[in-house]
Amino acid sequence: MKSIALLGYGTVGSGVYEIIEKNLEDIKNKYNIDLKLNLILVSNLKKYSSHNEFNLFTNSIDVIKNASPDIVIEVMGGLHPAYEYVKYFLEHSKHVITANKDLIAEYGEELMNIAKHNNVSLMFEASVGGGIPILKPLKECLGGNNIESIAAIINGTTNFILSKMYDENMGYFEALKLAQDAGFAESDPTSDVEGLDASRKISILSSLAYSKKIDWKKIKTIGITDINLNDITNAKSKKHKIKLLAISKQNDGDVYLSVRPVFVHRSSSIGKIDNEFNGVVIDGDSVGNLMFYGKGAGKYPTASSIFGDLIAIMQNQVDNSNIKLSSDFNFIKNFPLKSK
Ligand code: HSE
Repeated sequence: MKSIALLGYGTVGSGVYEIIEKNLEDIKNKYNIDLKLNLILVSNLKKYSSHNEFNLFTNSIDVIKNASPDIVIEVMGGLHPAYEYVKYFLEHSKHVITANKDLIAEYGEELMNIAKHNNVSLMFEASVGGGIPILKPLKECLGGNNIESIAAIINGTTNFILSKMYDENMGYFEALKLAQDAGFAESDPTSDVEGLDASRKISILSSLAYSKKIDWKKIKTIGITDINLNDITNAKSKKHKIKLLAISKQNDGDVYLSVRPVFVHRSSSIGKIDNEFNGVVIDGDSVGNLMFYGKGAGKYPTASSIFGDLIAIMQNQVDNSNIKLSSDFNFIKNFPLKSK
């Protein structure tokens, strides 16, 4: 029996709890594994006083440290104290699953090294693309490829806002409010609408794809805050849509990355990705073009990815993300037009 502690009970944390409640027996039988959710860390204990399993809740990280769970699921978000907690549990040889792209974009390499040193897993499938399995295919299934480029819609909130503006002529702020109510947006949606969330995610994808240390802060990033209904009308008149696209390309030791709103034809594969859906197009030299598509934000899609990581750990698939990241490349400013 493996014990699990959940750090955080917001949109994603409650989704993980509900999936455990609903599917645990099936999962146990299907995968021949045994697990139990033992503790849930929250900041405001009173808020959960009428919860069915209030006995699982605590507001003390020390209670969780003392319980010494086998697996910790971090869904608090933000950098601190998530970084300190994740580091502590990895150093104490606990497997960690996180949905936290801020944490992985900023401290991923250090935390992966700690996990490797302690022979435990640090899994973060849910940090990019919500419910889309993208990191595992990139690290494992596509290992025989030289990945040449990635083009992605990887922020559900902005894609939702742009879709509402396009389909329903809805104003920006009204659409943002709907995205927040649906649980797609970050607690501070600035990182969504200013493109920072997408920058962090494309840096994670690119680091894994190219085995390079990509500093997300160096990515040229323009969000969607300046887009208005006139821009949308203009795009429509040209049979285009506006999408917040994260692009990354490597070419002869150079790496180019950007996040910015672009015009895409409305009937192109990227142009058809609407609402909170994400899409990631990967170009590998052996496989050619691949597209991964699905719900990129929201309670259950994100919890679904966390569950995939949980099952992998339960099946003893220790993932140290043993990929060496090199600093030996140029971060170039202009899109490389030279083709292979
Ligand atoms: N705020 C994020 C988004 C959540 O809208 O894509 C999923 O990472």
